[in-house]
Amino acid sequence: MAGPLRAALALGLLAAARPAPAAGQRRQAELFLEKYGYFSGPGAGTHSQAEFTEALRDFQRVTHLPLSGVLDAPTLHQMALPRCGTDDGDSRAAGTRRGSSGGRWPKRHLTYRVVNWPPYLPQHEVRLAVRAAFELWSNVSSLLFWEAREGPADIRLTFFHGDHNDGLNNAFDGPGGALAHAFFPRRGEAHFDSAERWSLHSGKGRNLFIVVAHEVGHTLGLQHSPVKSALMSPYYKKLSKDFVLSWDDVLAVQNLYGKPSKGSAIQLPGKVFTHFQDWNTDLYGRDRQQRSLSTYYCHSFFDAITADGDHNLYIFKGSHYWVVTASGNASDPRPLQPRWPGLPPGIDACAWSQLTGKFYFFKGGRCWRYAGSELEAGFPRKCSALGFPRHPDTALYFQQLRRLVLFKGPKYFVVGEEPLGVEPYYPRSLRDWAGLPPGTAGALTHRDASVYFFRDHQYWKFDQAKLRVVATGKWATQLAWMGCWDANSEQVLS
Ligand SMILES: *[C@@H]1O[C@H](CO)[C@@H](O)[C@H](O)[C@H]1NC(C)=O
Ligand SMILES: *[C@@H]1O[C@H](CO)[C@@H](O)[C@H](O)[C@H]1NC(C)=O
Repeated sequence: MAGPLRAALALGLLAAARPAPAAGQRRQAELFLEKYGYFSGPGAGTHSQAEFTEALRDFQRVTHLPLSGVLDAPTLHQMALPRCGTDDGDSRAAGTRRGSSGGRWPKRHLTYRVVNWPPYLPQHEVRLAVRAAFELWSNVSSLLFWEAREGPADIRLTFFHGDHNDGLNNAFDGPGGALAHAFFPRRGEAHFDSAERWSLHSGKGRNLFIVVAHEVGHTLGLQHSPVKSALMSPYYKKLSKDFVLSWDDVLAVQNLYGKPSKGSAIQLPGKVFTHFQDWNTDLYGRDRQQRSLSTYYCHSFFDAITADGDHNLYIFKGSHYWVVTASGNASDPRPLQPRWPGLPPGIDACAWSQLTGKFYFFKGGRCWRYAGSELEAGFPRKCSALGFPRHPDTALYFQQLRRLVLFKGPKYFVVGEEPLGVEPYYPRSLRDWAGLPPGTAGALTHRDASVYFFRDHQYWKFDQAKLRVVATGKWATQLAWMGCWDANSEQVLS
């Protein structure tokens, strides 16, 4: 026990300290508050301390934080969360009834059109998700929507990269930050960041269905809601057992357009909307005859990755996984179910232990352990009760410590297998892993003895002797052993 733990502490001691957080936080916060409409005048960059404090307080009120009026850690954290890029307008004014000042359509029958498509997601499924997003609103109001496949439409949904002529303030910023924005009636435009990690299931990435549903709300005239559970609250939320629309959303849309003409409002739990993904029909479908199933994971991001003792890679996405052999040969996608019976889709993290030869899976607060295809007795366990982080970003078996390591945001946890539990002195700061960014999707120890971390299209190579990142790049095109032979030659779907 003492040996590995000393090694564990040494990892921390050896790691180079990183510089303090970047200066200019106050300026960043000011720009943020300007973008989201917390200052009354335009006056870019010329706000007094009193105006700044007042704007901060407004922001803290809208986001249910303590009204300190100070740029403290919870406020900075809140500002960094993924959200809608439309400003917070009237939701700032406490007590004002929302819904009317966004304007409204003078008619009840509206057409919509998806002008272009996000890269990597099957068109057919995006179309189903968009249809369901409109249906959410028509099911609780008198509105009716039709999809126009071409030509003009009242509401147009478009994916854009970076600056797209809505003003520099509204330029998209890649993964995280502003995910999308939309305009009030009767402009009929909703814009989505095409560089975001869109998904249609409950695993990693941003669920496109829920973001489309939110932006459609704006195109109908709804402003941001100060009600925390509302779909129209500015911050991204995950699908859950709750209805997607809260009472506040339903009242707001009925306030503008009235109740459904026949029957009563119909609502379904959010969880129902995680099944637009349908590999078999779509991947071979007419949208993409050229693409091979085996390298589908090469064109997108994945939920988790690990490697076994024979250097086979396991890559997980939604309800499927791929095996890439040591020779770089990728399998077709295989369903998680018979291989790991009882494992849910969209796992957060996975690691294969070199010590015990077992597979560990993590999702939410739970964990699963399999010897071969057999779920071990007592699993799934509530691992969060053992002090494990909920929704870990990445799991890794780390040879130097002969322990599992779980990464979550700015921290990591070292975990013993027998008995299963977090070692003392953890969590520690991610700074011990010099050069590693937070929020990686997965990691593995390669046969060259380096640890590779993955996030989106990027990889980071961590040298176990130097205890720092020594290289980074694009995994699909630069790491031949990821099995993406055709990643260079195939056209990205657009
Ligand atoms: C809308 O209501 C219909 C039943 O009339 C239901 O089948 C459908 O799933 C509902 N859609 C949404 C998005 O709630
Ligand atoms: C990849 O797999 C195919 C079919 O199983 C086999 O024919 C081929 O030789 C393999 N390639 C390599 C490089 O192992």
